[in-house]
Amino acid sequence: MNTTDRKTRKLHVVTHGCQMNVYDTVRMYDVMRPFGYEASASPVDADLVSLNTCHIREKADDKVYSDLGRIRAEKEKKKAAGGRMLVAVGGCVGQAEGAEIIARTPYVDMVFGSQSYHQLPEMVTKAIRDGGGVVELDFLPVEKFDQLPEVSDSQGVAAFLSVQEGCDKFCTYCVVPYTRGAEYSRPYANIVEEAKKLAGGGAKEIHLLGQNVNAYHGVGAGGKSMSLADVIDAVAQISGVERIRYMTSYPSDMTDDLIAIHGSEKKLMPFLHLPVQSGSNSVLKRMNRRHTRDFYFELVEKFRAARPDIAMSSDFIVGFPDESDADFEDTMDLIRHVNYSQVYSFKYSPRAGTPAASDDKQIDETIKQERLARLQGLAHEQQTAFNEAFIGKTIPVLFDRTGKFDGQLLGKSEYMQSVYVSGKKELMGQIAQVKITGGFLNSLTGEVVAS
Ligand code: 5AD
Ligand code: SF4
Repeated sequence: MNTTDRKTRKLHVVTHGCQMNVYDTVRMYDVMRPFGYEASASPVDADLVSLNTCHIREKADDKVYSDLGRIRAEKEKKKAAGGRMLVAVGGCVGQAEGAEIIARTPYVDMVFGSQSYHQLPEMVTKAIRDGGGVVELDFLPVEKFDQLPEVSDSQGVAAFLSVQEGCDKFCTYCVVPYTRGAEYSRPYANIVEEAKKLAGGGAKEIHLLGQNVNAYHGVGAGGKSMSLADVIDAVAQISGVERIRYMTSYPSDMTDDLIAIHGSEKKLMPFLHLPVQSGSNSVLKRMNRRHTRDFYFELVEKFRAARPDIAMSSDFIVGFPDESDADFEDTMDLIRHVNYSQVYSFKYSPRAGTPAASDDKQIDETIKQERLARLQGLAHEQQTAFNEAFIGKTIPVLFDRTGKFDGQLLGKSEYMQSVYVSGKKELMGQIAQVKITGGFLNSLTGEVVAS
């Protein structure tokens, strides 16, 4: 495909999964824009529909095939009208299942992984030439970041920026090391450059992303090794950037400079997502997590010492193979001890090819369900109490969306709480002071007092 062929075509990308996939989707549009593909909000009449998929749990996988059924109908309609729609499956399911996807759903023309989507234009050319059957699963993160075009300004006021990809931790339940490949840190200068472009395009909040973001070790000027704290420091200097966040962190990769910058850099938000997965040392060991519960407690204390108002969130898996009642109670105890502002919890989902999937001590579904319900009950109490404590306070909110109702605006607090107000559209994209009037499980309500 060449960039001089100017006929406008429509590209629709369906995104599942994590923020990294959201970032990749933005970049896929960036890759195809020079080739005349403009973003389309729906698959109807699109020339290229791509699924950006998630393989983390079974439920995520199922979505791919239900989506594909709907897209197939659109593809057939377009064909009946004399047109052509190419269908692609990218992301982690693409990487994990490869050619099997085309064998199972032959109307899929292309399959690719998360480390090769910069080659999408070539794949499209091949798919048109060969009538489909394109599979591209190479892990090419260095080449990908080298060849991706500059970011567009399309991310708006809160933008994602990938700084690190892949994972070498091999937790025994997790597919990520297989679907995203080995850890890779982008060069420091490229990240700073991209952050400047995002700020120039209106981004006030930048989320630095990585599967193992605090393992970031980039190369700076003169070959100097740069840490995530160095990246945060540089991004904070960029005019227009007012808020910085990073995720997802791995406990044992935390460094003192990263903890310290929470105390010194006001633009770094007082909120940290630090997955622990379990409160039981024996489960943590069998998960191949490289930390104990005490190590995690000490880490939380260090963050609280550096930034006393920091709020923590975490991920938990219940029903990992051979998890006993006592193991689960240890998890409940850890949650009580840390007191989270937000908790993401999942039933263990066996993933083919990971060590824990072939463990013969799988936990019964009803026990998983009971444990999940109890854990979520406790987490919801903590989350609600955290949110209720804001009633009467005046806090800064970055407005990035309109709500369902007329005149309703939706923004994010420094702690990632969703805040609903009624206000003028002019507040969109602004940080305004909001007096909080209501605190609930998943949101706050308030009144704008000053912008
Ligand atoms: N089953 C259930 N949850 C999982 N996660 C990762 N792999 C699995 C699995 N096989 C959860 C972890 C991780 C989050 C992104 O998804 O809690 O932190
Ligand atoms: Fe998966 Fe563990 Fe890597 Fe996180 S650290 S991406 S859970 S293997």
